[in-house]
Amino acid sequence: MMEKISSLAKRRGFIYPDSEIYGGYQGFWDYGPLGVELKNNIKRQWWKSMVYNREDIVGMDTSIIMNPVVWEKSGHLKAFTDPMVECRECHKRFKEEDKKSHEHDDWTEPKIFNLLTEVLLGTTEPKEKAYLRGEITQGVFTNFENVVASSRVKIPFGIAQIGKAFRNEITPGNFTFRSREFEQMELEYFVKPDEAESKKIFENWKEQRINWYESLGMTAKKLRFQDHKDKEKAHYAKYATDIQYEAPFGWSEFEGIHHRGDFDLKNHGLSYLDQETQEKYIPWVIETSGGVDRAALFFLIDAYYEDGERVILKLHPKLAPIKVAVFPLLSNKPDLVKKAKWLFGKLKIAIPPVAWDDRGNIGKRYFSQDEIGTPWCVTVDFQTLEDETVTIRDRDTAKQERVEIDKLSEWFSAKLNDPTSGVGDPTSGDPTSGVGFILK
Ligand code: GAP
Repeated sequence: MMEKISSLAKRRGFIYPDSEIYGGYQGFWDYGPLGVELKNNIKRQWWKSMVYNREDIVGMDTSIIMNPVVWEKSGHLKAFTDPMVECRECHKRFKEEDKKSHEHDDWTEPKIFNLLTEVLLGTTEPKEKAYLRGEITQGVFTNFENVVASSRVKIPFGIAQIGKAFRNEITPGNFTFRSREFEQMELEYFVKPDEAESKKIFENWKEQRINWYESLGMTAKKLRFQDHKDKEKAHYAKYATDIQYEAPFGWSEFEGIHHRGDFDLKNHGLSYLDQETQEKYIPWVIETSGGVDRAALFFLIDAYYEDGERVILKLHPKLAPIKVAVFPLLSNKPDLVKKAKWLFGKLKIAIPPVAWDDRGNIGKRYFSQDEIGTPWCVTVDFQTLEDETVTIRDRDTAKQERVEIDKLSEWFSAKLNDPTSGVGDPTSGDPTSGVGFILK
């Protein structure tokens, strides 16, 4: 299965090995024309649900390289100085003495795992040592007081961020699953220090996050929570749960929900003043930390279907890299091509990105679009020239429907703006939202 996915990903332009012409580079990957669309769609949907659809969450974009003191205070430098062993099966790390309590028994040699990637800054010797961030989180914490002072947030509130993180993984593998450079989408949600209340908020975020993956089509029975045992917890976590997907290589974490308590803000010496009560305290943090690359990989795996020779990527329309493909029935009939080009021009403004294909026969074009997950194919044929109708063919049912060009706007708007399935946003007035575009 993983071979099928990685070969489709390469052949159709989702994911390529990084620096492939020089033999690749272990733990690094490049996203091609379709891969970047898939990833952007995941990030866009996440941002919508975490920031735009809420009143208690704001966004940020912080630096990849930070003052190295941050990593001392965050505990990352210290946490990586004890020798650890890594389980070759699940890749979790333990102190030697904790090996006994683990279910697998295939270990690496004890080593100091400094996961932080070092970089040297400056043009004169000695250069200054800094680090590429090992989690995107710390920039949110170091800016906590800036955000409180410059925006109108009040506890409880959250800060959302999407960005690259880097880890010196010693065993990268399973395609993009364990990489050295990857993207995270994280929420840090700041709450009052209260055991019962923060537990409730933690449980609530668990539900919201697993529901989000399901709402984008991930198979519910392939998703589960896995609580961290005490020995598995990250150094900052009071308690933690993973969202796991049943991948071809076993149940695997792709999002962590962590109760970080006051660990980070306290270590950075930061606090919060409630303007109404004048109460000063260090908030606790509930974190949801998802991997964009792991989500992209699991959405691809989950969407992959075979029907005889045919491969169908049943991606949710919101995630599909290409929303619609437009074909002239025959490429050697100028009238058909002209009309189809006109329609293509309209649709690519209304619901981008739209594909054009006039190669081979219609069957092969459907085959090609199914394989990359395009939900709908529109064909301009001879009847179109007479009555201004086209056929729309649905990827999942292979059913065709004849629709008047004048009604296409409505047809796609209904599909795309359905809050449970489309891509557009009926309230945005954005021409790319798929609403109200004119097909004349
Ligand atoms: N701020 C908390 C944090 O970073 P984590 O559980 O270490 O928590 C969160 O990482 C998510 O980041 C993981 O669930 C995974 O999706 C992604 N991730 C972590 N290491 C990764 C790697 N080496 N390759 C790809 N994604 C990774």
